[in-house]
Amino acid sequence: SVIRSSLIDPDGGVLVDLVVPEKDRALRAKEAAALPRVGLTRIDLEWVHVIGEGWASPLKGFMREEQYLQSLHFNCLRMPDGSVVNMSLPIVLAVDDGTKDAIGSSRDVGMVGPGGDLVAVLRSIEIYKHNKEERIARTWGTTAPGLPYVDEAITPAGNWLIGGDLEVLEPIKYNDGLDHYRLSPKQLRKEFDRRQADAVFAFQLRNPVHNGHALLMNDTRRRLLEMGFKNPILLLHPLGGYTKADDVPLNVRMEQHSKVLEDGVLDPKTTVVSIFPSPMHYAGPTEVQWHAKARINAGANFYIVGRDPAGMGHPTEKRDLYDPDHGKKVLSMAPGLEKLNILPFKVAAYDTVEKKMAFFDPSRAKDFLFISGTKMRTYARNGDNPPDGFMCPGGWEVLVKYYESLQAE
Ligand code: ADX
Repeated sequence: SVIRSSLIDPDGGVLVDLVVPEKDRALRAKEAAALPRVGLTRIDLEWVHVIGEGWASPLKGFMREEQYLQSLHFNCLRMPDGSVVNMSLPIVLAVDDGTKDAIGSSRDVGMVGPGGDLVAVLRSIEIYKHNKEERIARTWGTTAPGLPYVDEAITPAGNWLIGGDLEVLEPIKYNDGLDHYRLSPKQLRKEFDRRQADAVFAFQLRNPVHNGHALLMNDTRRRLLEMGFKNPILLLHPLGGYTKADDVPLNVRMEQHSKVLEDGVLDPKTTVVSIFPSPMHYAGPTEVQWHAKARINAGANFYIVGRDPAGMGHPTEKRDLYDPDHGKKVLSMAPGLEKLNILPFKVAAYDTVEKKMAFFDPSRAKDFLFISGTKMRTYARNGDNPPDGFMCPGGWEVLVKYYESLQAE
């Protein structure tokens, strides 16, 4: 039976799918085995996953220099017809001098994952300079020491970037018990069609769900029903790639999210929980555009954004790295994202009078308690409970167990 999809079109019109069809895999792998090789880090492999499944559509591989420059300078890619799609993060692959020499004048290279398997091929390659300082400054707006992604993936990386067309030899699996949550954009679209969604609203997150997050999601659902949609579906979409060391790890977050659905804070009947395979940059307003753009490709036409999306504390100063309101302002104006409905939200905090998470009311600021990740950790470490109504008990219990296990180390 053919279900007619009413979902938003992927960016650039066609959803990119670079995973080699099963029947061709053996032959392609054999051909690839003869090519010069490039080694991938864990984060590089996450990008292979992201590009291969079409989250970055219409991008079809690691960026060549022209795409890199467009992304870095315009936060967009130019299409042949003159239109633009949003592409705010450069998706690039670095190689060192030795690898560059070994590649020589080869047109294509094989790509080897951290486990030693040949996972992909990059075709019609181009190698160009990796000016790290310029890339960091333009992506983050600062070169302050201590940016997590920079320390992890850019500073130690090679001085060359290699771009080309990607071919993924097998679907990327992590074998961590969570692969069934990793639906591709194609699979998500199928699921939304199966559920006959007439609106899909996405919620990107990298933290445990507290009742403030839930307030944003449930308020969105109410607004969409008011607008006349009959079956809006929530995509609860935790980021599953690289995150910084003091963020809660993915497996713990997934368990926490399950409790939030079990405890009825979110409605399982109208929610799809899935993992977004991208690594995290913590590049604030620049990165939130990527987070939103990728969800268009998965079929979302509404995107929730609240306080300081993709933000973090300044690595050396006592302040937020970005203005906490800029993410939603930038997203609402971003070139290439006009077709996505942005739903900006005010900051939610614990209302000590009403004893629940609520939108912050500046006229009675002293009634509100802001519970940061650091504060959460302090509660858990001291065996204290957060105030009633901050998070469902089942979800909190998962976090307590996790923080206890950290102390035991
Ligand atoms: S993010 O890096 O994925 O943006 P996080 O998981 O903390 O971080 O946030 C997920 C989403 O919830 C983002 O849209 C963010 O702006 C929003 N958000 C987080 N905390 C609050 C809050 N207290 N009030 C309003 N929005 C919030």
